[in-house]
Amino acid sequence: MGRTEINIVLLGLGVVGGGVARALQEKAEAYAEQAGLPLVLRRVLVRDPSKPRPISLDDGLMTADPDEALDADADIIVELMGGETPALDYIERSLKSGRHVVTANKEVVSKHWLRLHSAARDAGVEMHYEASVGGGIPIISPLKRDLAANEIIGIRAIINGTTNYILTRMAAEGVDFGDALRQAQELGYAEADPANDIEGQDSVYKLSILASLAFRTFISPDDIYREGITQLHARDFKYAAELGYIIKLLAVAKREQGGVRARVHPALLAKDELLARVDGVLNAVQVEGDLVGKVLFQGPGAGSEATASAVMADVLEAAKAIRSGEPTTPQDRSSGLAAEPISKLVSRYYVRIEVMDRPGVLAVIARSLGDHGVSIASVIQKETDEEGQTAELVIMTHGAREDSMQSSIKQIGGLPEVSEIGSVIRVED
Ligand SMILES: NC(=O)c1ccc[n+]([C@@H]2O[C@H](COP(=O)([O-])OP(=O)(O)OC[C@H]3O[C@@H](n4cnc5c(N)ncnc54)[C@H](OP(=O)(O)O)[C@@H]3O)[C@@H](O)[C@H]2O)c1
Repeated sequence: MGRTEINIVLLGLGVVGGGVARALQEKAEAYAEQAGLPLVLRRVLVRDPSKPRPISLDDGLMTADPDEALDADADIIVELMGGETPALDYIERSLKSGRHVVTANKEVVSKHWLRLHSAARDAGVEMHYEASVGGGIPIISPLKRDLAANEIIGIRAIINGTTNYILTRMAAEGVDFGDALRQAQELGYAEADPANDIEGQDSVYKLSILASLAFRTFISPDDIYREGITQLHARDFKYAAELGYIIKLLAVAKREQGGVRARVHPALLAKDELLARVDGVLNAVQVEGDLVGKVLFQGPGAGSEATASAVMADVLEAAKAIRSGEPTTPQDRSSGLAAEPISKLVSRYYVRIEVMDRPGVLAVIARSLGDHGVSIASVIQKETDEEGQTAELVIMTHGAREDSMQSSIKQIGGLPEVSEIGSVIRVED
């Protein structure tokens, strides 16, 4: 007898899981038409089934017993619990038992990319993860399909709504990092423990996924250079604006020097760049391909319904594959491109230095930069503190190598004429 329905098990019924369960209830008819068979929720795994929830499910669907959920009669397992443990175990177990998996879990997908893709391939099923990057923004599927005819040159993205909200407030209102973070927490845009977001780790996981797909090679989160936004000062936003720039936490991966260089750090972006205008909690990913040129994907990077939109697209794709009975498409051969270290990056830099307000200081700094092969494009002297007899210099450099720049900065920081290196921010051209 032929199949009469597609059975789904949901692991997690929180912000995203709740949105998915609601979509399954409210759009059941439309989804049945699209998939060709009804999508039926068989089990929902949660930590605490007695917890009050904004959604009501049929009796007996919810369980706190992982075996009950994972051994249920299911074609598709949708993992929306988050975290590495036990999600990794549940995803791997589901794939190995021949079930298609849909997940929004960037940490698990990025850290265990090879292992999970190989488990899926061996079992002849697929792992889908559209919601793992950029919430509701379609980006995984375009990278796999619509841009497949291109050689990808680079990706530049704003893929963390919390930090983008904080930086937008700092730029617009001149507030310091701590105040902007507090505002974000009050509005529910930042978690009580925001470390993963503000230190850039969340963006690293997402960039690992984007870069691995775009360059057809595994770029591990450990291969990605990371710097968060906690060291930025309100003054940097003011000075950057005067120079025609906006500061954003960028996730960048580019084909460079025979490999792929991937990095997450604050960067100065020219005001007229499309990405510079992505404000608040919005996310955006710009992809540059050799045929298409630059394309920008922008939209809500989080939220119950927006993220459910991406998860359900994956569920529908898996459902169609199951119904058609066609074998899953094998993965592309790896390009073999290796991750390049940050040390050989060539970039322009913005440097803010607090110096003693006396003649000859600039010459000493310029000599150190020059000795390291870094040439100065412009210098502006900002506020002078007459009481402390210090002045602030904002230096823009020409393109220089990262390792040379860092050694020069280290030397400059030790000069008696220098009281503090305020900020060193790369300029993204
Ligand atoms: N929130 C967003 O806008 C968003 C956007 C994109 C991607 N994501 C990703 O989507 C995933 C889910 O995020 P979320 O915001 O929906 O999380 P959430 O609101 O914290 O919900 C997590 C759900 O998983 C359940 N759960 C957690 N650990 C469990 C365990 N060990 N055993 C059984 N159940 C467990 C929880 O059960 P209880 O309800 O009983 O506590 C809860 O229902 C994460 O990977 C996240 O990174 C989220």
